[in-house]
Parts: sequence; structure tokens; C-alpha cells
Amino acid sequence: MPKVKTFYQCQSCGYTSPKWLGKCPDCGEWNTLVEERKETVPSRLDLPAHLRKSEPLLLSSIKAGYGERTSTKIKELDRVLGGGVVTGSVVLVGGDPGIGKSTLLLQALSGLSRSGRVLYVSGEESPEQIKIRAERLSINTEEIVLLSETSLRGIIDTALKLVPKAMVVDSIQTVYTEELLSAPGSVSQVRECAAKLMIFAKKSDIPIFLVGHVTKEGAIAGPRVLEHIVDTVLYFEGDRGHSYRILRTVKNRFGSTNEIGIFEMSDSGLLEVENPSELFLLGRPVNVSGSTVVASLEGTRPLMVEIQSLVSQSNFGMPRRTTIGVDFNRVNLLVAVLEKRAGLHLGGMDIFVNVVGGLRIVEPAVDLGIIATIASSLKEIPIDPRTFVFGEVGLSGEIRAIAQAEIRIKEAAKIGFKKAVIPLGNAEKIKNNPGLEIIGVKDIESTLRAVLT
Ligand code: TYD
Ligand code: MG
Repeated sequence: MPKVKTFYQCQSCGYTSPKWLGKCPDCGEWNTLVEERKETVPSRLDLPAHLRKSEPLLLSSIKAGYGERTSTKIKELDRVLGGGVVTGSVVLVGGDPGIGKSTLLLQALSGLSRSGRVLYVSGEESPEQIKIRAERLSINTEEIVLLSETSLRGIIDTALKLVPKAMVVDSIQTVYTEELLSAPGSVSQVRECAAKLMIFAKKSDIPIFLVGHVTKEGAIAGPRVLEHIVDTVLYFEGDRGHSYRILRTVKNRFGSTNEIGIFEMSDSGLLEVENPSELFLLGRPVNVSGSTVVASLEGTRPLMVEIQSLVSQSNFGMPRRTTIGVDFNRVNLLVAVLEKRAGLHLGGMDIFVNVVGGLRIVEPAVDLGIIATIASSLKEIPIDPRTFVFGEVGLSGEIRAIAQAEIRIKEAAKIGFKKAVIPLGNAEKIKNNPGLEIIGVKDIESTLRAVLT
């Protein structure tokens, strides 16, 4: 008889302990240790012999076709994946409930089904519910096979029989393996099932999409190790108040991690957004102080986003500084630079900085937008709505050049901007000016002169 071993495992980080603890010593979370049981007989994934064998290979002898990509026929998704889904890869898609993970993956399967049969495994919805959704999305369901199953064994058996071109497992938290005695959704189950699906994908060359639930804190439920197991991790984010959704790469073994895909949730499913800049600039206030547009770059694509700042007299001894979408410490640093190098009196002021549309900008090119809007709000001088800025600000108040200036300028010209206030170092190197007035600036003073007129 197999021996049953009992242990306690942290549901947040995967730490195991032989006895129960109130606080996880690894990640510091309280009350996350849960009793799990495991048979001590090691078991292995029973794959057919031809899928089980693994031999050492010479790197030079590996055929070029390995790791081929298939298009999902959704351009935004392909871009985020690095140009299509790679054979035998496992892609984890995380996101808040109701954000559109199931919708996105059903649409992706529909695109992939053009090259053959695909499999949609759902442990959350009944086939009827999925059918209703498919009708709503008006997708061709000829080659899509549905499976309502939560046992890993059953899923792999079906996949072995069908040999689909791609499969979706919605969600990894509902899948369980009989080999473990803990409940579906627990760390050990999630980890074990993901690891086995990973082996299966690699051996069978079937790409697998896993849907992962996120916790209240926004991390994919189950341990962080899930992110280490899979090849690619995508987060589907969005604001309940807005209809657009952003698909962001967090990890990608087969491509860049800077890419984002932008979608809009409509009543017939997710639509690709071809001109995100226009979307994010919709409803922009005109001739109001404290607002300007930054030409930012997300991966390879330029994105024009509005930055807003509000500077007001503080009623408290300790002025408030709040930032949404940009780094808090970065804003504090820029405020100090503005005080020291441009002589602005910001010490007793509350300062709020916001990136419109729920976007998050991490690149330093946003610096110039932050200082321009803070100065504009303080002096109550609006910035011309046809002006845009980008550039990094150094501690001595110098404006430093940033990468890929020409792409940004081209995008701005496309949407009708007329004046660019950019680092001198970039301005001197612009070869093809698409008909904009370009002002190169080298310090904060000349920047403020250029934007506040
Ligand atoms: P869903 O894909 O079920 O989300 P998840 O799998 O991430 O939990 O998406 C559900 C939401 O999307 C729901 O609030 C309704 C909305 N929706 C639309 O607005 N239009 C559509 O065509 C579909 C299918 C869903
Ligand atoms: Mg779902």
C-alpha cells in the first residue's frame, strides 16, 4: 500500500513545512499554509512509447522546422506571442475574472482551427455555455472540439486521440491529477498539472494555452513557480470602466517581453485596436493646464499617451504626492529637479500625476511629460494640444536623448501633431522630418520655454 505523507504548503509561494505555521517564513503571508497529502509512491506521466523517449541531440542536427510558429489570425495576440504561437509551447494567460480570457482564447482557437482541429477543454463552463459564446462571437466552430473535463488523465487521453493543432485548458486551477490527494486549485495540484501539461506539450508538439486565475493581489493564483514552468506568461489587463483591454507579456521564451496587444471588448467579442494612440487620446481636454501628450514606446510600437498633473496648495504640513501609471519615486525625483534647477516652488504643494487610460509607462521618455505638466499646472499655462514631448531628465536638469525618436515622431505626425519638444541630442539626428516643427531642448529652462508658450 502506498504511504500517505502529510505536509503543509503555503498557497501563496509554495513553501512546504512538516508542521502547520501561522506565518509563511518564506513569503511572509499569514494563514496561507494548508494541509496537503501526497502518496510517496512516485508516479510518472504515462505517455505512449514514441512520446516518452528522449535522446541527446547535437544542436547542429536539430531540424530548422522545430519551433515553427502558427498565426492565431489575431494580429495583436500574434505580436505579443512574438509572431504567432510556437509548436509545443505552453502559454499561461492570467487576468481578473470577467476580463475576457475565455473570449480571447476561443477567438484564438477559431483562428488556429484554420490549420486543423483544435481542442477547447473547459472545467468552468458547460459546452452549451461555450456554444452560446461562440455564436455570439460568430466564429466558425467546424474544427473546434469541446471537452468538459477536469481530470488531467482524461484531458491528455483526449488530446492524444485527437492530436489537435492547439489546445486551451480553461482553467489550470480546475484541473487535478489523481496522483495527488490535495484539492484541485491547491498549489501542488496546479504545479503538478502544469508541469505535466508542459511535458506533454513538448513531447507532442501541441501548443497549449492555460488560463490562470489571479488572486486579489493580482498575481496568478497558485505559486509563482507556475510562471517558471511555462514558456510564456501573458497578463490580460483592463479597467472595468473602459472597454479596452491590454495583453501584456510578462515572460516569453520565444520573443520580446515588451510587447503589448490592445483590444476592445465589444458585444461581438474582442476587437483588435489598430490605432491605439487615437483611442487613448479620445476626449482629451483642450486648453487646460497640466496636460500634454508623450510619445511613448511599448515594445516596437509607438503609443501617444496623455499625461496629466495637478498641482495645488496643500492644506497639510506634509504635502501629498500621488502618481498613477508612472513611478512614484521618479516623480519625486523630477519634482526635486524642478525645484532646484528651474526654481519652481513646489515644496508646499500637493502633486498628482496621472497617465490617462489606465496605462503604465515605465520608460524614462515620460520624464519630459511629467515636468512639463507639473510646470504647466503650477503656472496655470496650458500646453498647446498639438504639441507633444518625450525625453529623459537627468539630475542636473539636462535633457537626455532616448531611443527610437524617429518612430515616435512619425506616429505623432500621423495623428496630426504639429510641434515636438524633444531632447537636442535626438533633434539633431532626425533625418526624415514628416513636416513637424521640432524643437530640440537641452535643459529644463529651455523645455519650459518651449512648451509653455
Ligand atoms: P470571459 O471571456 O468569460 O472572461 P474570463 O474568462 O476572463 O473570466 O468574458 C466575460 C466578459 O466579457 C463578460 O463580462 C461579458 C463580456 N463579453 C462581452 O462584452 N462581449 C462578448 O462578446 C463576450 C463573449 C463577452
Ligand atoms: Mg473564463
